[in-house]
Amino acid sequence: MTTYPKRLIEVDLPIKKIGAHARREKSIRHGHISTLHIWWARKPLAVCRSVMCAALWPDPAQEDCPLRFREDAQAIMARFWNPIGRTDLDFHDPMALRQALLDFIADFANWDNSTKKEYLETARALTQSAHEALGGAPGTRPLVVDPFAGGGSIPLEALRVGADTFASDLNPVAVLLNKVVLEYIPRYGQRLADEIRRCGEWTKIEAEKELAQFYPKDPNGATPIAYLWVRTITCEGPGCGAEVPLIRSLWLVKKSSRSVALRLVPDGKRKLVEFEIIESVKVQDVGNGTVRRGSATCPVCGYTTPVASVRRQLKSRKGGAADARLLCVVTTKPGEQGRSYRLPIEQDLVAADKAAGELERRKAIHKGPLSLVPDEPTPLGGGSGAGRAFSLRNYGMNCFEDLFTPRQALALTTLARLVQEVRLSGEHDSGMEAAVKTCLGLAVDKQADKLSSLSRWDTSRENPQGTFGRQVLPIVWGFDEVNPLSGSGGDWRTALNWVILVVEKCSFLNEGHDPRLGQVDCVSAIQHSMADDAANVFFTDPPYYDAVPYSDLSDFFYVWLKRMLTDSNERLLSDCLTPKEECIVDETKGKDKEYFEKSVGRAMAEGRRFLAPDGIGVVVFAHKSTSGWEAMLQAMIDAGWIFTGSWPIDTEMGSRLRAMDSAALASSIHLICRPRESPDGSVRTDDVGYWSDVLAELPGRIHEWLPNLASKGVVGADAIFSCLGPALEIYSRYSRVEKASGEVVLLREYMEEVWAAVAKEALGMILKDANASGFEEDARLTAMWLWTLSSGANGNLEVQEPDDLVGEEDVSAKGSKMNGFVLEYDAARKIAQGLGAHLENLTTLAEVKGDKARLLPVSERTPYLFGQVISTIAGKGRKKKREHQTTLSGGVVAQAQTEMGPSSELSLPAPGSTVLDRLHQAMLLFSNGRSDALKRFIEEDISQDQGLWSLAQSLSALYPVGSEERRWVEGVLTRKKSLGL
Ligand SMILES: C[S@@+](CC[C@H](N)C(=O)[O-])C[C@H]1O[C@@H](n2cnc3c(N)ncnc32)[C@H](O)[C@@H]1O
Ligand SMILES: [Zn+2]
Repeated sequence: MTTYPKRLIEVDLPIKKIGAHARREKSIRHGHISTLHIWWARKPLAVCRSVMCAALWPDPAQEDCPLRFREDAQAIMARFWNPIGRTDLDFHDPMALRQALLDFIADFANWDNSTKKEYLETARALTQSAHEALGGAPGTRPLVVDPFAGGGSIPLEALRVGADTFASDLNPVAVLLNKVVLEYIPRYGQRLADEIRRCGEWTKIEAEKELAQFYPKDPNGATPIAYLWVRTITCEGPGCGAEVPLIRSLWLVKKSSRSVALRLVPDGKRKLVEFEIIESVKVQDVGNGTVRRGSATCPVCGYTTPVASVRRQLKSRKGGAADARLLCVVTTKPGEQGRSYRLPIEQDLVAADKAAGELERRKAIHKGPLSLVPDEPTPLGGGSGAGRAFSLRNYGMNCFEDLFTPRQALALTTLARLVQEVRLSGEHDSGMEAAVKTCLGLAVDKQADKLSSLSRWDTSRENPQGTFGRQVLPIVWGFDEVNPLSGSGGDWRTALNWVILVVEKCSFLNEGHDPRLGQVDCVSAIQHSMADDAANVFFTDPPYYDAVPYSDLSDFFYVWLKRMLTDSNERLLSDCLTPKEECIVDETKGKDKEYFEKSVGRAMAEGRRFLAPDGIGVVVFAHKSTSGWEAMLQAMIDAGWIFTGSWPIDTEMGSRLRAMDSAALASSIHLICRPRESPDGSVRTDDVGYWSDVLAELPGRIHEWLPNLASKGVVGADAIFSCLGPALEIYSRYSRVEKASGEVVLLREYMEEVWAAVAKEALGMILKDANASGFEEDARLTAMWLWTLSSGANGNLEVQEPDDLVGEEDVSAKGSKMNGFVLEYDAARKIAQGLGAHLENLTTLAEVKGDKARLLPVSERTPYLFGQVISTIAGKGRKKKREHQTTLSGGVVAQAQTEMGPSSELSLPAPGSTVLDRLHQAMLLFSNGRSDALKRFIEEDISQDQGLWSLAQSLSALYPVGSEERRWVEGVLTRKKSLGL
């Protein structure tokens, strides 16, 4: 087998620091490409940048590292670090040189350093040296290909660090975004920003001339910045027929410094609801809205019109945006800070009506192949997968026009027309006009996001939230309508400014004599246009199952872009909607899990085909479910890839990626891989590995990695997933692995072994002072379970609530929150198995529910551990009826028949049968304030139990900070100390 010099990423990566920079980057807005235009599931630039560098640069500490790179890197690192006083590193020591490179990568991940000259020059010099040292022709650059480019983070970083790049996506909207970032900005730089500003100003002035009359100022000179509307239905209560405004919440402003709300004033005689605005209100003074789970309660008669009727009524009115009721107008006053809230006045209603009339007039005289307002169909939605994101059709919003009120549509169509009419100033090459118009078109999209009837007023920021606060297009009962001319957040000028800031911030790509341009194409990843062996790096971030329905979401923007930019992008924008052949799971389109796995597998095979035999691949996946994850790995192995590393980088925390359950397992993982090819580029199909050899090599490999990761603070699920890549190398370097019998070993079987090896190694590490093998299965499982959930940073468990999937009309019952320490069942099962523990036997310790497994909170173990009913635990004073409970040994624990009051206490228990049980008993005595009983229990039953005390020590570090368990176990340890034992 030919081997190639290892790259840094196959050896090490500072994932903790990169993760921290990536999370910080999420709060950075100005100039970040994510503010150019919405794209879903964008990857943080910090991560793409670091991974890119570490994939391009060889590890200088490998014996076969080309000398040329090692020498160049010594010089480059000395030049970079010495002036900042890093004299501790001897760059002639290959290990120190490796560290210097990794430190550079970690620092470069910082957004603040990302455009600094010294960082750019250093990175580019290293990239150039690496490329030439690895056999690239002098003067050429390495080519990085991303066939699922999306918003363009990966290719942008390729250009930044000195590589060439080819970015493609199936989706024309994504392709346009990539064109702006990789072609237009590098070609025109600051000149482009200047021209957008100039032309944008012209569109603003022209739009004002046409539209100002529809957004009249208040008689006192105040400017309306947003109109807050609600959809309505007619009450179906017997004999009522009142107009019911569909309101979820009556709050208008809800901040610590200010509170404003609406009050409903039902008028029984006139059968309608009036409103008052109340300022400086307390939470308890604000009433409930009128809608809950899609049904609407009438404030006049109290009757609740059921979901089906609400839908039927709105359906007959195309969603009811056009005849919504105006509740409130938000204004700013000249010379005054902050926003004011007032009830509507006559002129507000007249202006909106006039706008509707004007829109009708324009529609009547409109000519052209496309309708004035987009009449393309909205996504069908439905089903349990990706389709859940769309419920518009349930309410009659069958085409995109229905998502806009007439005045919103009037404003957007005006802006869209003006964008087509802009004229550049002075002499420019023909490409400049397309560049300017494309960027203005993106700004119109930004305006459309803020100017649809699916944008909600953000009561904490006092700003419009926009249509895509989340990765869904659900109905919104009450919506804001911004005034695009207001001079406040959400208006046209703001949209323009965001775009200009990005162009300016990325203009570093245009500096010097040598602008860095990328290539962009609209092509499917499963049948790519790239020539065989043409790429040096294949770095990509494919869709993940049903997490994001990209094409259906992007149609919202596509229908506007095709009305503005067809001249310069005929091929991209000529279809009715964006192509639906994307690789996702979407039952509404007949795409199941198998479809997804197969099509991503084909894309991976394409990637391997166009990557040079000595090239390197990086594929980003979420690892939400172990089975999904294994399917992807199998698909990649089948496509001819060998894994050489895996790095989880915790970036998704707090993000709104749908369908993520447990944050601890929600990092995105970067799989590092190499083509299983001969030097001539042909796939190797005849390397057979023997199962016994593979198994023999595995523990050593894990033993090498895990402690090393732990020493860097990488623990828990992150550590497990970091071990998988190296472990998989042993298996995937063969075209197949066989048992002595000739039977082929499937990846699934190998993965069970990998988890087991990791669990054993980890347990030895976690309980290192406690002789792990001496504990019963319950203690082993508890320790490993808690460790898996720990993040190492602060020992905190952060469990993320599943996102509210379908939005305001959610009619399904919400999943109740699970107490305790929750892992995905399959992960828990694998860990347990690896430790020789059996989940099914440990029902008083852990509980399996659906695809989740829960380690019970210690308080829930009380009845089992004390053999009597306990109604108060840890001062909670909650009464609980408990049923007879089966114990581990199969007996039935006697339960007191009566419930005890808040003063009930635990009595001294019979010592439990395992070390963990006895420790939990002591913890519960402590929690219950049973000082004497605890003293006796310690003195008489457990003081001499060395195993128990070392387990207590270990668990005190594993229970999450702030948890009851942590407090209790520490309490027990302190008590023992104070007893002088
Ligand atoms: C996870 S996103 C990429 C996000 C990107 N890394 C970023 O930071 O913005 C996946 C992308 O794959 C694209 N896609 C889905 N199926 C595709 C296919 N068959 N060919 C090419 N692109 C596809 C989607 O349009 C989406 O943009
Ligand atoms: Zn009623």
